[in-house]
Amino acid sequence: MTRQYSRITGTGSYLPPRRLTNADLVAELAAQGVETSDDWIVERTGIRARHFADPGVSCSDLGVLAAQKALEAAGLSAQDIDLIIVATSTPDMVFPSAACILQNKLGANGCPAFDVQAVCSGFVYALTVADAMIRTGTATKALVIGAEVFSRILDFTDRTTCVLFGDGAGAVVLEASDTPGILASDLHADGKHVGILCVPGQVSGGVVQGHALLKMDGQAVFKLAVGVLEDAARATLAKAGKTQDDIDWLVPHQANIRIMQGTAKRLKLPLDKVIVTVDQHGNTSAASIPLALDVGVRSGKIKKGDTLMLEGVGGGFTWGAVLLNL
Ligand code: UT7
Repeated sequence: MTRQYSRITGTGSYLPPRRLTNADLVAELAAQGVETSDDWIVERTGIRARHFADPGVSCSDLGVLAAQKALEAAGLSAQDIDLIIVATSTPDMVFPSAACILQNKLGANGCPAFDVQAVCSGFVYALTVADAMIRTGTATKALVIGAEVFSRILDFTDRTTCVLFGDGAGAVVLEASDTPGILASDLHADGKHVGILCVPGQVSGGVVQGHALLKMDGQAVFKLAVGVLEDAARATLAKAGKTQDDIDWLVPHQANIRIMQGTAKRLKLPLDKVIVTVDQHGNTSAASIPLALDVGVRSGKIKKGDTLMLEGVGGGFTWGAVLLNL
C-alpha cells in the first residue's frame, strides 16, 4: 500500500578526523607563499575550522559512515533500505556513481542507487526526489546522503576559495509514513550563472582537460544567494500553507555566516533558531545541510515534531528549500 507521506526517521553524520583550525591552514598556506589570516576568514565567513579527508579516503567512505549512523538512529539495517541517493559533486570516480560504491560498502545490494549533482543544493534536491519516489510507491525506506571531499578540488594557491571548504558527510533515513514529514519543497536552477561557481575541467582522451579545480566569483554568488534563499523559503511555506512563525529551526547550507544571518533576517527569524555549523565544518557543499541537521538533532536542540526549513544554494546556479516535520 502506498503511503501518503515520507518522514525522516534517523539522522547521522561523519567528519574525517584531520581537523585544521584557521591557524593550522594559515601556517600551511604561508609555507607555500599564500597569505591569509584567521581574522579575515572569521570576519568574512564565520569559519574557524574544517576537516580534510586523508589521501585515499573517498566520498563513499565518508558517506557510508554517516549512513550507518542514520540507520542505527532509525532502528533499521542496511537490508531494509530500498533506495539510496547520494548528493555529491566529488564522487569517487567518473562512473559508476558514489551511490553504487557506497551501496556495496553498506551491504544494501540490489536496491536502486544513484547520485544527484546539484552542488551545494544537492541535498535538498536529493531529499525532494526521494520524497517523490516514496509518495509514488517506488520506495519505502530511503537513505539520502550528502557526502563531499571538496579538499580534492581546491586550488591551494587561490586564497579566495581554499579557506572556505571542508570534507564530511551527513545522511537521513526517509521512510513512508501515514503522517506528514516532508510538507513541501521548492527547487530551482538558472544555468546562465554556470561560470560563477564551477570546476570547469573534464576527462577526455584519458587525460584531464582544462582547469579541474574550483573557481568561484564569491561576490556574485553572495549577491544572488540571500535573495533566492528567501524566495525559496517563502514559496515552500506558501505551498505548505504555513508562515515563518511555524518554523522551529532553519537548517541552511553552511557557506558563510553572513548569508545565514541575511536570510534569517529577511525571514524575520531570530539567529537562535538557526543551526550553525559553518564555524566548525566550513562549507562542505552537499554534506552541509545533513551534517547540520544531525548536529542539531544529537545536541538536543532539534526535537521530534519540530518544523524545519532546510535550504541550499550553490553551483549551477541551483537553489531550493524543503519544509518538514521531524
Ligand atoms: O557553497 C556555495 C555557495 N558559496 C557561497 O555562498 C560563497 C559566497 N561568497 C562569500 O561567502 C564571500 O563572497 C567570500 C567569503 C567568498 C568573500 O568575502 P567578500 O566579503 O565578498 O570578500 P571579497 O571577495 O570582496 O574580497 C575582499 C578582499 C579582497 O582584497 P581587496 O581587493 O579589497 O584588496 C580580497 O583580495 O579580501 C581579499 N581576500 C582575502 N584576504 C585574506 C580574499 N580572500 C582572502 C583571504 N585572506 N583568504
